[in-house]
Amino acid sequence: MDRVMTGIQGLDEMLNGGIPAKRHIAVYGGPGCGKTSLCFEYLYRGAKLGEPGVYVSLEETTDDIVENMGSTFPMINDVKDLMDEKKIEILKPDKLDLEEVAGIIENSITENGVKRAVIDSSTMIRMAFKSEIEYRQTLFEFLSLLRGLDCTSLTTVEATTASRDEMKYDIEHFVMDGIINLYNIGKEDRRIRALEIMKMRGTAHSRDLVPFKVTPSGIKVYVGEKVF
Ligand SMILES: Nc1ncnc2c1ncn2[C@@H]1O[C@H](COP(=O)(O)OP(=O)(O)OP(=O)(O)O)[C@@H](O)[C@H]1O
Ligand SMILES: [Mg+2]
Repeated sequence: MDRVMTGIQGLDEMLNGGIPAKRHIAVYGGPGCGKTSLCFEYLYRGAKLGEPGVYVSLEETTDDIVENMGSTFPMINDVKDLMDEKKIEILKPDKLDLEEVAGIIENSITENGVKRAVIDSSTMIRMAFKSEIEYRQTLFEFLSLLRGLDCTSLTTVEATTASRDEMKYDIEHFVMDGIINLYNIGKEDRRIRALEIMKMRGTAHSRDLVPFKVTPSGIKVYVGEKVF
């Protein structure tokens, strides 16, 4: 099976080598859990491996993302060069519309040979729908459009809680090919970042809850370590 290495330290090991190619994964987590950082690093590592990527931002502007990621990952300082070389594209659609998002990704594949895509976040789109059923239907249609494209995507989904115990299943948990859950877990007087691969169709993977850190040079997932 073809796999796409995330390039994120520790995560590929948990995934038995990487995300199965052409699958569409949700990165699920509460506010500030690290969704944008993880997805951005996925594109960055891809660009360095020679796989161009497109970041479709539905919330933050391109400048915000470049600025925020520049301060989160100060040691990753060649993002602007990669953008000039079209190895990383960051786009903000005019409309909150999944069909338009799929169109943007398709266009980037044809024009720049994009292999990786990020959609941040689907929650913005979800909020534009009046009913859950309508959103679910549109999400299905969006996924079938994506499945026709030669790219492997991560979509962020905002959880209403950062707590693992209070986590409930959302629509995205059922329809996406894989789910990576990110948490901010309270431990005494501090919070620890942790992640787990809740599902990943087509591959064996770690089912452990493991701690991770956002460091200046990238995310580090501490495989084999315990959160408690
Ligand atoms: N330089 C840094 N070093 C360590 N941690 C940082 C640094 N910069 C940002 N952070 C942490 O990362 C968090 C933001 O991460 P990120 O934006 O990836 O989360 P998110 O899940 O996308 O958040 P949101 O729900 O706001 O979209 C910040 O709240 C902060 O705790
Ligand atoms: Mg974010």
